[in-house]
Amino acid sequence: MSHKIRHLAIIMDGNGRWAEKKGLSRSAGHKAGADAVKNIVTACRKRGLEYLTLYAFSRENWSRPKHEVNFLFDLLLKFLRQELNALIENSIRLNILGDPQELPFPVRQALRHACSKSSAGREMVLNMALNYSGRDEILRACRSLLQQGADPEKVDEQLFRSALYTGAQPDPDLIVRTSGEQRLSNYLVFQAAYAEFYFTPVLWPDFDEAELDRAFEDFQHRQRRFGGL
Ligand code: FPP
Repeated sequence: MSHKIRHLAIIMDGNGRWAEKKGLSRSAGHKAGADAVKNIVTACRKRGLEYLTLYAFSRENWSRPKHEVNFLFDLLLKFLRQELNALIENSIRLNILGDPQELPFPVRQALRHACSKSSAGREMVLNMALNYSGRDEILRACRSLLQQGADPEKVDEQLFRSALYTGAQPDPDLIVRTSGEQRLSNYLVFQAAYAEFYFTPVLWPDFDEAELDRAFEDFQHRQRRFGGL
C-alpha cells in the first residue's frame, strides 16, 4: 500500500560541518544550505506535497555568535527577494511558524510582504519556522485560550490546534533530520505525535532530490497504525 505524504517537515542540519569538511567558512555552509532549500522546495512542489515545513531558525539559535545570526537573516532576506516570484508562479503560499516580534525589523517587513504577496497560493504551503520553539508554541496557545476566556470543558484537540501556529493544517506525516543527529530539538512538539522519522547522515547542503526520494521511499515501507492494530 502506498501512503501519501501530505506534510513533510525537515530539520535542516549540518551546514557548519559541511563547510568544515571542505575547509570553508560556516557562512559558506549556510549559503550552500540556502541553495538546498531552493532545490527541495521545487522538488516537493513537483511531487505534489501540500505542506512543507522547514526549521530555518529556532529560538535557541539566538545563542550563536552575532555575526552568524546576522548572516542567516541576510540569507533569508536574499532568499525572499530572489524566490518570491517563483513562489507566486508556482502557487506556493509562504507561512511563518514562530514569533516574528523578536526578528529584526527588515526581516519582519520582508516576511510580511512575501506572505501577503503569496497568499493566493493554493498548491503548497511553505511553512518557515523562524524564532520557533515547539514548547513556546504550546504555552502561547494556552495563554491565548485563557485570554479568550475559553470554557475548560470545550478545550478539545480541535480548539487547541486552532491556537497553534499550524492552525488547521494536517500534522506532518514525515519528519526528516539531516546530519546524523537523532532528536526533535523542540520542533513541532505537539504536531509530531504520530509522525514517522527519517534520519540521514547526509549533511543539509548535500540533501538533494535523490536524497528526498530516498526518504519518501523509506516512508513507503512504514506501517502507520496511529495506535490501532
Ligand atoms: C543547521 O546547520 C542549519 C541552520 C542553523 C538553519 C537552517 C539554515 C539554512 C538552511 C540557511 C538558509 C535558510 C534559508 C531559509 C534561506 P548548523 O549550522 O547547525 O550545522 P552544524 O550543526 O554542522 O554546525
